[in-house]
This record gives sequence, C-alpha cells and structure tokens, in this order.
Amino acid sequence: DTCVALLPAAGSGSRMAAQQPKQYLPLAGRPLIWHTLQALHAVPELSRIAVVLAPDDREWDHYDWSGFHRLTVLRVGGETRAATVRNGLRALWPDYLPGEPDAAVPPRPSERIAVRLAVQCDATPGPLRPTAGAPWVLVHDAARPCLDPALVSAMIATLRHDAVGGILALPVADTLKAAAHGTRIAHTHPRDGLWQAQTPQMFRLDVLAGALEATLGPEITDEASALERLGLSPALVHGSPWNLKVTYPQDLQLAELILAARAR
Ligand code: C5P
Repeated sequence: DTCVALLPAAGSGSRMAAQQPKQYLPLAGRPLIWHTLQALHAVPELSRIAVVLAPDDREWDHYDWSGFHRLTVLRVGGETRAATVRNGLRALWPDYLPGEPDAAVPPRPSERIAVRLAVQCDATPGPLRPTAGAPWVLVHDAARPCLDPALVSAMIATLRHDAVGGILALPVADTLKAAAHGTRIAHTHPRDGLWQAQTPQMFRLDVLAGALEATLGPEITDEASALERLGLSPALVHGSPWNLKVTYPQDLQLAELILAARAR
C-alpha cells in the first residue's frame, strides 16, 4: 500500500522565542526543515512528502527546494497542529475527504463522523475499521530534523499489517514528579508503562482523517490522541533518543551535534 509523509510546518514556534518560525531556524547551515525533508526523502517506501505551511508563510520561497523530487507544498496550515494535519489531508485527497480547509476550528459532533466513517469504510459495519488498501499516512513534526530514515523503514515494516497503526515512542527514563503550587512536589508519578510520544505517527488515511474530523481541540497534541478519543489503541514502536523535537533554543545545539555525529 502507498505510504505518504505529511509534515505539519505551520507552527509559530512561540516557545523558541525567536524572530523566525522554528522550522526555518539555521541548523548546520540550512533551515531546520531542510534536514527533516532530507531524512524523509531517504526513506524509499515514501512515495510523496507533503509539507503543510501556514497560508501567510513568507520564508519557504527564500530557499531552493528543487532537489526534493517527491515534495508537495500545501499552504493550508490551521490554528492547531491537528487542524493543520486535517487541512493537509483534505488538500491531498479532495475526493476522499471533501470539505474546505479552514483556519478556524469548528466543533464537530462525533456522531456525524461515525456516520461518515461507516460510509467510507467499505461494507464492514462499525465506524472504526480502516479500509484495506487506503494509503498509510506518516505524520512527522517538521521540528524533528534528526530522524533516522532506517527507523522509518523499520516502523513501516512493523505496522504495515497492523489493524490500527501506531507511533514511534520511548519508555520514560526519568522519575516523574507531579507539582503542587507551581514548584513544590505533590507526589511521584509511577513511570512504569509510560512512554514519550515521538513522530512519525502512522495511520490509514480514512481512520486518521475520521479521527481528526471528530476532534480538533488543543488537547489533541498528536495524531494518536485523536484516535484514542475514538476508542482505538495505536501501537507503540520503539523510537530513538536522537529523534528529538526542537522546542527550546538549546535543542538546536543538541540537534547540530547529532547531525554532525551522523555525518562523521
Ligand atoms: O508546537 P509543537 O512543537 O508541538 O509543533 C509540532 C509541529 O506541529 C511543528 O512541526 C509545527 O510546525 C507544527 N504545527 C502546525 N500548525 C500549528 C501548530 C504546530 O503545523 N498550528
């Protein structure tokens, strides 16, 4: 089945406290997102890589992207990450997923989506069954530039026959404290069975789109959480500590070290 990567890159990167959105911050002499695209282009299973920019993005055109032959650029980013991904899916598969991309986040009753999905998902009753043959979509943060292409290939091999799909993730290594009154410890949270979510997150188009049509709130900080809301249980596939997300300024330095170590 077809595998397509979708890169939400419409965030403003407010935690970075920089002038530029973080996907364009310089990293090893290139914009950060260049490295992310480079990694995805090195994954032979991916037939297309779609990047979703904010409609008012003014940086993308400053760079030369002609070396990336499987790239599609969509300027339909939304208010939240989930809205950006939903808009990107609609723009890529307009026949499959009709509707206008919108920047606002309309509340949608989940009953409606249950009906829509039942119609889309062949003859099998039940709203949450993926259509065999529907494309796999791998959603990957533009802000994770140190992704190892071999890890993506391994993930695709692991999940190709999974009924739900899944995500890269790592078991939590640190002891976890819940805070009270800002910076006092209330209690220690058991870390057993806790994982940190990474990306890519890999799901069948119809299930992912259905989950994002049903819920787009700010609490949906990754694709898996939208599926969880519908009662699905995505798989956890071992990721890598190198696959860090650039969120704070010091993450850029770490990313630079990782890329340099890999180039050696
Ligand atoms: O803010 P955070 O680090 O969680 O963002 C993760 C990814 O989601 C980034 O690649 C960012 O550009 C993207 N995003 C987006 N549209 C938004 C918010 C975030 O594409 N409205």
